Amino acid sequence: MTDKDFIPSSYTTDKMEGKVTYKSPSNIALVKYWGKKEHQIPANPSISFTLDTCATTTTITYKKLKNKALDFSFDLFFDGKPKEDFKPKINTFLKRTEPYLPFLKAYHFTIETSNSFPHSSGIASSASGMSALALCLIQLERELNPTMNPDFFKKKASFIARLGSGSACRSIEGDLMQWGAHKDTLDSTDLYAIKYPYKVHPIFKNYQDTILLVDKGSKQVSSSLGHNLMHDHPFAEQRFDQAHKNLSKLKRIFEEGNLLEFIKIVESEALTLHAMMMTSMPYFMLMKPNTLEIINKIWTFRESSKTHLCFTLDAGANVHVLYPESEKEEVYQFINNELVVYCENGQYICDQIGKGARKL
Ligand code: PMV
Repeated sequence: MTDKDFIPSSYTTDKMEGKVTYKSPSNIALVKYWGKKEHQIPANPSISFTLDTCATTTTITYKKLKNKALDFSFDLFFDGKPKEDFKPKINTFLKRTEPYLPFLKAYHFTIETSNSFPHSSGIASSASGMSALALCLIQLERELNPTMNPDFFKKKASFIARLGSGSACRSIEGDLMQWGAHKDTLDSTDLYAIKYPYKVHPIFKNYQDTILLVDKGSKQVSSSLGHNLMHDHPFAEQRFDQAHKNLSKLKRIFEEGNLLEFIKIVESEALTLHAMMMTSMPYFMLMKPNTLEIINKIWTFRESSKTHLCFTLDAGANVHVLYPESEKEEVYQFINNELVVYCENGQYICDQIGKGARKL
């Protein structure tokens, strides 16, 4: 497939007005996407667990205009209140997606959105937000073209979400999603994410993710700036190569349920992501002292308890603690006894691997 396959030739139905709602989850990458080419094409393939609790719910109410407008026509509400400062980002997204969604200027949209996780928790909402928005728009397109098949619907939703925020393309489905062309993964592509197509050991079923909110402040460096710093990065090529290799190694690890090897890759990926930030020019650091305290505590506890928890990080200071459901009680007690003190206001979110977005 190429991006041209997502340009519709015509629509068979007319739709004057309507309403659509989608709830779409966030995701946490195991092999990280960091660095991109033009048109949101990733510099390396990535893989993630789709989450369940952390999600965005978006409703789009649409009304056909008398005449096609010159610009995009929309109102935006976040938690029921107008949100003017989000509008430029949505405008950029609509502009980028218009060649593939030629109906966009024919309607006025009222976009209402809200997150399940606390506002300014330091949790990136772009993956859940952009995927929910993309799904609402593709659902409208499906109403204009009712014969659209379900497989194409998912591919196009992921493709459109990607144009909003790269990692968002991995939130459409679950529970393990891969994005980016990779020689050892059948049907993998840079255009959209696919469900991981190989055998996954039952130990990964219901895998837990407790998100420790270390720093709830807004990000000092946006991820688009961070991706751009990979362009002239001295270690970029080695890093991209490492991501390919880690994905190849994960194939056997997923199949066999080898948690010791899984931990090595996941933690190394998190630290490499942050090492890339620390070695770019300009350099920056998103980890906080409490991030390091937590990592060290996790290592000590893992050694003494022989449990299999591990950590991963996003582009921020918060720590995602990943562990199998069978170890939930022991790990949960450890988190409460030893890690909560490092969280801002003692806050954390209990999440787990989920099945993807759904229409409400
Ligand atoms: O989707 P973006 O452009 O916000 O990039 C997200 C990058 C990371 O979260 C750091 C890694 C990933 O693969 O999700």
